[in-house]
Amino acid sequence: MTAPTQGYRNGLVDLEAGQVSREIFVNEEIYQEELERLFARAWLFVGHESQIPNPGDFFVSSMGEESVILCRDRAGEIHVFLNSCRHRGMKVCRYDEGSTAVFTCPYHGWSYSTDGKLVGVPYFREAYHSKLDRSQWGLVEVAQLCLYKGTVWATWDPAAPPFLEYLGDFLPYIDLTLDAWDGSDGGTEILCGIQKWRVPCNWKFPAENFSGDSYHNISHRSVDLVGIGPSGSNRRDMPELLLARKLHIAFPERGHQTTSYLLPKEAASPPAYQHSSVVSDYFRECEEVRRKKRGDWGRMIALVGEVFPNTAFLARQPRTLAVWHPRGAHETEIWRWFLVDRSAPAEVKDFLRQYYIRYSGPAGMTEQDDMENWNYAHAASRGTMARRYPYNYEQGLGSEVENYEWDGFRVPGVVCDLTQAKSSEHNLRNLYRRWTEFMEAESWDELMSWRRPGRAEAAE
Ligand code: FES
Ligand SMILES: [Fe+2]
Repeated sequence: MTAPTQGYRNGLVDLEAGQVSREIFVNEEIYQEELERLFARAWLFVGHESQIPNPGDFFVSSMGEESVILCRDRAGEIHVFLNSCRHRGMKVCRYDEGSTAVFTCPYHGWSYSTDGKLVGVPYFREAYHSKLDRSQWGLVEVAQLCLYKGTVWATWDPAAPPFLEYLGDFLPYIDLTLDAWDGSDGGTEILCGIQKWRVPCNWKFPAENFSGDSYHNISHRSVDLVGIGPSGSNRRDMPELLLARKLHIAFPERGHQTTSYLLPKEAASPPAYQHSSVVSDYFRECEEVRRKKRGDWGRMIALVGEVFPNTAFLARQPRTLAVWHPRGAHETEIWRWFLVDRSAPAEVKDFLRQYYIRYSGPAGMTEQDDMENWNYAHAASRGTMARRYPYNYEQGLGSEVENYEWDGFRVPGVVCDLTQAKSSEHNLRNLYRRWTEFMEAESWDELMSWRRPGRAEAAE
């Protein structure tokens, strides 16, 4: 299979015309370039601190296609290592999670401490004549790591900007998922284990869907009719949202985007979940505190969002983080983490667990709808004829505004107000704009337009 001869910008990704070539989804050479240019450079979500609470705890995660070990060393420090022995590449950890004093390679027995040092080499004296420099052969560690409100992020690229700068003004939107329901900083933990499953589609299908595909409600019509929503009704049956502005909010220089609701100042707090008195009291009280504590941000409700390139979040329906791990051009492994307030009563956590399971994941009734679309769309785009025809992303072209303000709140980001238009592909174009920049840029200098001299937005 040969790579297309056109360049990325205006060849494969033509944002002015609102067209994207199917090649970027199905071409295997483009996929190999993505591994180098996106997944070896960008910040990626690895896991959550609550998964490794004690020294020696580990959780095996993934960055791009590659297995990594998230672990807490004996001194309590958190690390992310490539899960590959330095001797001959064997996976040094073959469990999903656990606790250990050392990682011992099953092939020839080299062992590594939880801070990555090579501490054990069989026949070190006899076979290596005590000459092997063990200090040079520890596990490969990520170039940068960031702990943010319990979440762990990493990049292989030492030249990448710090994580908070990578997020820029997008940060408060992801806080809507990571903060507790009452608005207190952090305060969330991972509920139970995580869900992992594979879908036969390119990873960008879910990435663009969770960037804010506001057009696919028809896909969920049957599940909406069944009524699995928070209050046992249609999941969108939240009357206060009818008063809100539904917004697509994109950050063109960074590639992050969200679909969020902005409630008016005077709107009552959303009733959220109403299952039993314990559950409804909990959410009502939390909402009241949050509105007071967070001011204008307390009336922002993130529906979905995407941190470039492959981490998605939902803030409340349900509250989760997902990673779209690439597994070849034609397959994606989805990992979904579910968050709850650490201090929530057991009944609330159990209610959320049930709700999350019936909504999300491979058995979740809503996510099943999406997976079926991505599966068949990908397969139907691979053929010799099919791949000659681009996808259409014209919806809402030119309708986005900067400095959007409503009811006294200036919303950070470039905004498309969907209240009248109902839907746009503003956020999806934003994803492919940044994707194109990553695929073309040779260095982070080219990717950090916000640092250029004369720019109002200085580097943080
Ligand atoms: S591959 Fe690990 S010790 Fe040889
Ligand atoms: Fe969906």
